[in-house]
Amino acid sequence: MSKILFATSEAHPLIKTGGLADVSSALPIALKTLRCDIRIILPAYAEALKNIKRLKTVANIILPGLPGYVEILQGKLPNSNIKVLFVQYEPAFKRPGNPYTDAQGNPWADNAERFSLFCRAVTEVAQNRVGLNWQPDVIHCNDWQTGLVPALLSLEQTRPATLFTIHNLAYQGLFPHATFQALGLPPSLWSHNALEFHQQLSFIKGGLIFADQINTVSPRYAEEIKTAEFGYGLEGLLKHRQSALTGIVNGIDDKLWNPATDPHIHKHYDSQHLTDKSDNKDYIQAAFKLPIDKSKLLLGFIGRLVEQKGIDLILSLLTQIEQLPIQLIVLGSGDTLFETQLKTLAIKFPRQFNCKIGYDETLAHQIEAGADALLMPSRFEPCGLNQLYSLHYGTVPIVHHVGGLADTVIDANDKTLALNQATGIVFKQPTNTALLMAVNRTIALFANQHTWKKIMRNGMNSRFNWRKSALQYIKLYKTALASVAKI
Ligand code: ADP
Ligand code: GLC
Repeated sequence: MSKILFATSEAHPLIKTGGLADVSSALPIALKTLRCDIRIILPAYAEALKNIKRLKTVANIILPGLPGYVEILQGKLPNSNIKVLFVQYEPAFKRPGNPYTDAQGNPWADNAERFSLFCRAVTEVAQNRVGLNWQPDVIHCNDWQTGLVPALLSLEQTRPATLFTIHNLAYQGLFPHATFQALGLPPSLWSHNALEFHQQLSFIKGGLIFADQINTVSPRYAEEIKTAEFGYGLEGLLKHRQSALTGIVNGIDDKLWNPATDPHIHKHYDSQHLTDKSDNKDYIQAAFKLPIDKSKLLLGFIGRLVEQKGIDLILSLLTQIEQLPIQLIVLGSGDTLFETQLKTLAIKFPRQFNCKIGYDETLAHQIEAGADALLMPSRFEPCGLNQLYSLHYGTVPIVHHVGGLADTVIDANDKTLALNQATGIVFKQPTNTALLMAVNRTIALFANQHTWKKIMRNGMNSRFNWRKSALQYIKLYKTALASVAKI
């Protein structure tokens, strides 16, 4: 039984800003079921601790240059038997707001210090130096916030194996050279073969250079990031490391996302009882104060309102909404400009469009259950979870052919419809015209309810379960372990 330390900056239901949180609880739960001895390690954000019933201090660490102790607290991930270790240093983590930004959405000025402290504490736990009497075989790091862990471990005589998962290459943890010096990191790490990226400190490079294995959250994104279009200047490095780079698609946590049991939704349903889904449509149309009308195609969007998600394409579609027999509902938060534009358009088109700006877990489930189709015109998408939830909820995804969206949705065309394989509507270019054409295609398919129901059922029958992906992660852990054994 492998011992895995899963280092992450978010985990549902403790703290969440996006899909990383979903993965960071669902994957460890699936790995535990497959008999891995897994512990999650997370910064002790005030918000996350609120959701833990019993918490105890299990270690105190002294980190050079830091006044006072860093505490390691231990609790359980709610509704599971998984231990969560929290790295507590109150000046760094006891504050309101989200893990990365203050209430106004500005990055915390001391993010480099906060996550470097986190990485140093993870390294101490990884090396079994804090008195927990638990030596992990593999450290599974996720995104830039954990990037320094493989770099620091590379300086040790003996160490566990490391896997670095890229959930999103757009976020790299870049800071000035002065920050590198202020953090007191070993000078040997300041090199373009280490943490330096165009005279800046790059946290993510720690993972990309030093981890024994690297993976992304879909096979297609693993290929895309080796190109200039998606690589953010890191494509050369990723190509260089391609023998250690793979893609594993995310899964669905069926306990949380299942239309037959979901406690958040108005009426339960499954692929045999699709008429019950339409009650959820009435419910969500009413919740968004739109006319209740079963005949109108109801599109939904849930997500961070950032460029990645193609919000500009949605805004452009909205300017033509009066010419289309559709309604659109949006739930999200993010860039203030997008938020303001959406709110203005909601006032302009009250019978066809409404939005809720903010984060609302219950509403997200209700949209998945109530909408006919879900828009995901992302410009890039490492995996994407909402389209997987949509497939499961019989809510047909309309997606741009990129990253995990391309890997998980099968376009409805003559061939796939004839073979009963179609699960969604896929468009090739991230342009206003291509999205409009995709919506028009969706309207036509929706008009033929017999075909539409087939597409819904195909989606509901497609299987993106975590067990399958967790088995691939176990394989990857073994590969990482084998490469350390050779050092
Ligand atoms: P990303 O991680 O890039 O944000 P994903 O599709 O992988 O995108 O995951 C997003 C997750 O966050 C999903 O579980 C989605 O339901 C949730 N989510 C995003 N925005 C909101 C919101 N405003 N309210 C509730 N849930 C949200
Ligand atoms: C990132 C990506 C998203 C992915 C999620 C979980 O936030 O943007 O595509 O699904 O991580 O892996």
